Amino acid sequence: MIRYVAPSLLSADFNNLGRDIEMVNQSEADWFHLDIMDGVFVPNLSFGFPVVEHIAKLAKKPLDVHLMIIDPDRYLERFKDAGANILTVHWEACTHLQRTLSQIRKLGMKAGVSLNPHTPVEFLEDILPEADLVLIMSVNPGFGGQKFIQNSISRISRLRQMIDKKGCNTIIEVDGGVGTHNAGELYSAGANVLVAGNAVFNSQNPTESIQIIKNA
Ligand code: DX5
Ligand code: ZN
Repeated sequence: MIRYVAPSLLSADFNNLGRDIEMVNQSEADWFHLDIMDGVFVPNLSFGFPVVEHIAKLAKKPLDVHLMIIDPDRYLERFKDAGANILTVHWEACTHLQRTLSQIRKLGMKAGVSLNPHTPVEFLEDILPEADLVLIMSVNPGFGGQKFIQNSISRISRLRQMIDKKGCNTIIEVDGGVGTHNAGELYSAGANVLVAGNAVFNSQNPTESIQIIKNA
């Protein structure tokens, strides 16, 4: 089973972004996780296309772009052009999710769908074959450094069972409050990709933290 780590650049030092990107390039991390916020879907703003393009130039690993924005259909192509390899939209932000996911695939990216902590994983049952990835939010989206919501473990297990029962190849990513303390439990519950912001960039030794999470 795939075990990936995707450091979230939201917690990187933006005064030294090139240095932090190079640290991830040289580490055991698998993807770069980029959080895009619009101040409407979530009560925060992050960064936009110029920053994504800048990251894409320096990154030697795939860009995993997490859109916390309403009406994401307006920008799918622009994120492709900016360098996104995996593009994840929120279930709660898409009225026509099937169309959005198929459009992401048509543009040549992996298609992801994310669930807020209160949205039942069962709502994904009919859309799973259209999704390369499901991103389980284990905090309420909008900010780094929040506390992991423990109920997320049972959500991951239920989703894993559903995916296996249907025989889909969809992978499970977990985002929010993930670190060395809970990585092993998350992989055991059925997660494939762990996003970590604070646990990587605010640790004494980011490279080592990535390694510990990946091998938990
Ligand atoms: C939160 C973002 C996360 C965030 C995770 O809305 O989606 O990707 O950067 O940060 P940590 O790992 O610090 O909880
Ligand atoms: Zn995220």
